Amino acid sequence: MCERHVLVFTVAALAVAFVGCTGKLAPDFIHPCNNTESSCLIQATQDAIPEFSKGLPQLGVPALDPFVIEELPIQLPGVKVTFIDGKVTGLRKCQVLNVEAYLEKNIFILEIRCNITIKGKYTAVGRLLLFPINGEGDSKIKIVNSVIKLNIKTKYFKDENGRDHFGIKNYRYAFDYGDRVHYTINNLFKGNPELSNTVLQFLNENWKIVTEEFGQPVVDYAMNVTIETAKKFFSAVPYDELLYVPIPKY
Ligand SMILES: *[C@@H]1O[C@H](CO)[C@@H](O)[C@H](O)[C@H]1NC(C)=O
Ligand SMILES: *[C@@H]1O[C@H](CO)[C@@H](O)[C@H](O)[C@H]1NC(C)=O
Ligand SMILES: *[C@@H]1O[C@H](CO)[C@@H](O)[C@H](O)[C@H]1NC(C)=O
Repeated sequence: MCERHVLVFTVAALAVAFVGCTGKLAPDFIHPCNNTESSCLIQATQDAIPEFSKGLPQLGVPALDPFVIEELPIQLPGVKVTFIDGKVTGLRKCQVLNVEAYLEKNIFILEIRCNITIKGKYTAVGRLLLFPINGEGDSKIKIVNSVIKLNIKTKYFKDENGRDHFGIKNYRYAFDYGDRVHYTINNLFKGNPELSNTVLQFLNENWKIVTEEFGQPVVDYAMNVTIETAKKFFSAVPYDELLYVPIPKY
């Protein structure tokens, strides 16, 4: 048993040290359901989110709250905005609205409501509302009560040890920006605080249109990070430690 674990986790040598030879890989905050009823899946997901978002270094799963956007360039009509060292927080407090799992059909649906804050540096070069813009400074974007609906196509696979795992084949999502998006961006126009403030005020008054324009790349990026993180988790923890329902034939 012990040797088999070592084989499975040659890559994550730390994992071996952590689980020892007792076998269980799932952390204690995972409360497996005995069926796929939504009520149980919602509770189990809600129980897992706060700890899961902190990251599980022993399983090679990075943190989601906070997570860092090292550099994200966004080309808008006329302006190129680049986020640098963005820190995304809030995911650990997301509220689970719905979870549905259709094991035979390989479908997994997750709906959550979150307050998300993105804080970091930015540069913006181009033209904004007729004004030439060449800004750089600090920015903060606060998204209140956004609703994210994830539709995941799952798969199953066996590890080197013959144990079954969940996998993610692909996914799509819908993002509702929620009640309000607040922008705090300083120094949009270098050396012109009046114009900077006026334009920032305009951005906030028109937050819906503004967010539709450049929210998409940010959310795409965040979704990718989340899904990549989930994949790592599912590769580390076998199916039978996540759900006490027989796995369908595959
Ligand atoms: C699943 O069943 C076991 C054994 O009956 C029980 O101890 C456990 O609480 C159940 N799990 C959930 C999430 O209901
Ligand atoms: C988000 O923040 C708002 C306002 O502070 C609060 O009313 C709401 O309950 C929060 N939502 C979540 C999902 O934490
Ligand atoms: C998603 O993230 C992975 C790993 O960080 C990266 O290799 C991949 O290119 C990203 N995909 C998209 C569509 O951004």
